[in-house]
This record gives sequence, structure tokens and C-alpha cells, in this order.
Amino acid sequence: MRTVRASAPGKLIILGEHAVVYGKPAIALAIDRRITCTVSRSSETTVNGRVMDADKHPYFNHMMKYSSSPLKIETESDIPSGSGLGSSAALSASFLKAVSVMEDTCTDNRKLATDAFLAEYTVQGRASPLDTSASVHGNGISLNGPEGSGEYLWDISVNENKWTVRDVRIPEMTMVIGYTGLHAATGPLVEKVRRYKDKCKFASDIVDEIGQTTVDGMNALSKGDIVKLGDLMTRDHKLLSILGVSCNELNKLVNVSLRHSYGAKLTGAGGGGSMIALTDEPEKVCEAISLRGGTPFIVKTGVHGAGVEE
Ligand code: MEV
Repeated sequence: MRTVRASAPGKLIILGEHAVVYGKPAIALAIDRRITCTVSRSSETTVNGRVMDADKHPYFNHMMKYSSSPLKIETESDIPSGSGLGSSAALSASFLKAVSVMEDTCTDNRKLATDAFLAEYTVQGRASPLDTSASVHGNGISLNGPEGSGEYLWDISVNENKWTVRDVRIPEMTMVIGYTGLHAATGPLVEKVRRYKDKCKFASDIVDEIGQTTVDGMNALSKGDIVKLGDLMTRDHKLLSILGVSCNELNKLVNVSLRHSYGAKLTGAGGGGSMIALTDEPEKVCEAISLRGGTPFIVKTGVHGAGVEE
């Protein structure tokens, strides 16, 4: 019986999370941590040996409409769920890639990224296509960056928001991830920012400032100015903290990393999850993160997006 195995990478966000939900710019890089989905046709849909349950498997429940028959689904992951590293996007992208090959639909990356985004949007509530586009495309992407800031890939819109996705070339640089070990669901954190922003002009101004910080970061990246980029990442962390999406554990890991880094910030939705540090002393940053109780790893970027595994 035919079996298809596909994988897709997680991501880190250099600048722009949360504000990107409201159409502001953001930059994300795919990382060398992946989720693999193996699918084969079956008489009923199972996930890792158990009958699919809509409550436990909301993403698969939504995405099964792309398959013409029930499936046996098996997953392997080296991205902790709720770590801020794009596990749900990688799950959606790898599953949809496997199903498109199984169905011979020759789905292109634009359609794959749109379908994966709609899965996030349906299950998680308000979301941007940042994580799913990074997972489908791989390498580096920007959303709503200035024209000419990278090769155009595709547009994705929902309701009043539209995002233009571009491929971005990133200079050689080393990032360390520090995982707090705290699981934080994205949906409630996005909702918390939305409520704050709708109620208070101050929060809305902070979202605008995150957008401007990201534009400045894109300029710094295009000039290869790592020092400036680091400063902007640290500034972004402060702005995200004002929005209420950081926490003590993240602040501690950011603080200790800054001693040996150009800049550091939370990455992803926050509330736990992970932080990143831009550094040329990765071992020192890893040691500092470990001593503060985090789990560090030096991340490799420039990895390929969703694809079939032989
Ligand atoms: C989560 O990785 C990034 C957020 O901006 C949500 C989203 O863009 O969908 C917090």
C-alpha cells in the first residue's frame, strides 16, 4: 500500500510577532527542527495508533477535508508543542504536503501555505500566515516588508488583512534558542493582545512601534548590520513585554543572554515558550541559559521547507 512521508521545519521569528497579526511586517527563519507526517490510506482515520478525536486532533480534523479517504497518520516531532517554534505550522505543512502527494493534486507552495494558514486560523482563531509560510517555504521570509526587500512569493488575505510574503536573504549569523520549558498556547496570547489593543490607544501605538522596529531591522539586515539588528531585537522584546506577552522566565533568559549577545528577545507568541539571542559567542550564551534553567540550542537556519522524505 502506498505510504507518503513528508516533513516541514519549525521557525524562529527575528522581529514582528503579534504586530504581524494586524498586517505589520515581520521576519521569520525556518530552523533545523522538523515535524514528519507519514500517511497511508485506511478504513478509518487514526493518529499515532488512536482513532482521530476532533478535540485532541483539531488540526487533523480540519485538514482531513483535503483527503479523499480516511488515513492512517503517524507523526514524529523534534519541536516541542507550545515552544514558540512553530510546531502547529510544521504539523499542518507536513501533513498537507503528504496529502497533496497522496492525492496527486500537485499543490504548489502558494496553495499549501494558504491551506496551512487556514488550518491555523480555524483552530487557533486570529493568526497571521507567518509561521505557516516559513514552514512551507523554508529559508527566510518576510511578511509585508517594503517593496524590493526580497523576491515576491505570494499574497494571503483573510477578512480585512492582507499579507505579502517574500523570500529574504539573511547574512551569515548565529542564533541561540533558549527554551523555557513552559508550554504556552498561541491563541489565548494573540487574543490577550487583541483585547488590549482594542481597548487602549497606548497598546495600539506599541503595535505600530513594533512595526517600525521591524522595518528598521529589515534595513539593518539588508546592510548586514548585525549590531543594529541586535539592538532592535532587544527593543522589540521590551515592546512585546509592554504588550504583556513576556514572562519572568523569558525575561531571565533574555537578560543573561544579553551579556554575550548583540540582542535577545522572546520568539513566537511568548508567555513561556522560547527566546532567541543573536551572538558570536554561542557557547557562552548556551551556558548562561542552562545556568538559568533554560534549555539552549544553537540553531541552524537556511533549511528547506515542506517536502517529501524519501
Ligand atoms: C506566533 O508564532 C506568532 C504570532 O504573531 C501569531 C501569528 O502570527 O499567527 C504571535
